[in-house]
Amino acid sequence: MSDETRRYWDEQAATFDNETDHGLRDPAVRRAWAELLLPLLPAAPARVADLGCGTGSLSLLLAEAGHDVHGVDLSPQMVDAARTKVTAAGATARFSVADAAVPPVEPGSVDVVLVRHVLWAFEDPAAVLASWISLLAPGGRLLLVEGRWSTGAGLAATDCQTLVLEHRQEAQVRILREPSYWGRAITDERDLMFSSH
Ligand SMILES: C[S@@+](CC[C@H](N)C(=O)[O-])C[C@H]1O[C@@H](n2cnc3c(N)ncnc32)[C@H](O)[C@@H]1O
Repeated sequence: MSDETRRYWDEQAATFDNETDHGLRDPAVRRAWAELLLPLLPAAPARVADLGCGTGSLSLLLAEAGHDVHGVDLSPQMVDAARTKVTAAGATARFSVADAAVPPVEPGSVDVVLVRHVLWAFEDPAAVLASWISLLAPGGRLLLVEGRWSTGAGLAATDCQTLVLEHRQEAQVRILREPSYWGRAITDERDLMFSSH
């Protein structure tokens, strides 16, 4: 993780939530993400690591559903925003400033690893993914939201699935085409990869 990356995300923090899917300020968009993610989690309170949590929108969504969430992000400004957001909502979640490639999470200690729009950016996503999977307790679940965006950046669902299947017996892909997740129609590929064993 470079200082340049941290600086970049620190600079993004103040305006990050202006994107509909980032801030989840639109109740319909927030509901869409809740209806997508919450049924895939074990009964609350599950121990959740939200890696590259950004401003904590998904952390908050899960904390409000009764889960025990630990958000990790390399950007102090993102983590400040996440803490402020969770406190303002009257919810509880823990946040750490750290590299998600080596997060301050004990191996085998969480029921869910949730990561949205982070894996694609690592130089060695296979190695990072292996370390994330090692954080899961037996029966733990992996939820990755990724995409292959119109900019050309990202990780295609099939590539993500191949990486996961090196470590897990199953990996289901759901393509997230519906505008309800993004607040607008999209033309690029966006997906959720879910693995329960
Ligand atoms: C596109 S944002 C996604 C934020 C959040 N997951 C969401 O979906 O709202 C990417 C986030 O990952 C964080 N990030 C990027 N590289 C990271 C790393 N190596 N370790 C921890 N966080 C990282 C950035 O600081 C930023 O907050």
